[in-house]
Amino acid sequence: MGKQLIAPSILSADFSDLKSDIEMVNESVADWFHIDIMDGVFVPNISFGMPVLKSIKEYANKPLDVHLMITNPKKYVKKFAELGSDILTVHHEACGDEMLNLIKDIKKCNMKVGIAINPDTKIDVLKNYINYIDLVCLMGVFPGFSGQKFIESTFKRCKEVKKLIEQNDSKCLIEIDGGVTTLNAKKLINNGADILVSGSHIFKDKDPIKKISDLKQI
Ligand code: DX5
Ligand code: ZN
Repeated sequence: MGKQLIAPSILSADFSDLKSDIEMVNESVADWFHIDIMDGVFVPNISFGMPVLKSIKEYANKPLDVHLMITNPKKYVKKFAELGSDILTVHHEACGDEMLNLIKDIKKCNMKVGIAINPDTKIDVLKNYINYIDLVCLMGVFPGFSGQKFIESTFKRCKEVKKLIEQNDSKCLIEIDGGVTTLNAKKLINNGADILVSGSHIFKDKDPIKKISDLKQI
């Protein structure tokens, strides 16, 4: 087993039988549930919201890693804490100058805090926050949809984030989200990735439990 954490993305689950997919993740060697919240404004897609998150929390027996792809995340921090989020990740592109305040708000609510950056956002923007956050979520695709092709420059970007973390003596973890498969996982881990989010590659497989364990064993 590798040290990497595996976080199956529920966006690719079967929503007509969500409980079965949650139980599958519970039984698997996955570490976290990755939950994508999209508002149709920050990204051109709407996923699901509070009632679905509440149902997931009822059955999930692993931490909930909530990825907010919404404008004005500040407004909903408390609500996501109340719903049982363990890690709350917000997009740098949605926060601007509010980022430090937002980090404080999230910590005050006893959640771990992550910053996500899109594939075309400079790694440099993380500099001011790298010692105050628990994870960087490096997008391997432009957020909005599951099943997109992995953007190859993510490998290099992952190395850059790792370097920034080491230079600053930070304990921050690197999460890769979007287009992750058993084919690119090894190189991502070698380049510094600690957490692998994977959606369609797991849920569209005939044997998702095995797929999760394959990702864990790399
Ligand atoms: C993309 C989401 C991802 C997505 C991953 O906007 O943030 O978490 O569900 O799905 P795959 O692994 O299919 O790219
Ligand atoms: Zn995500």
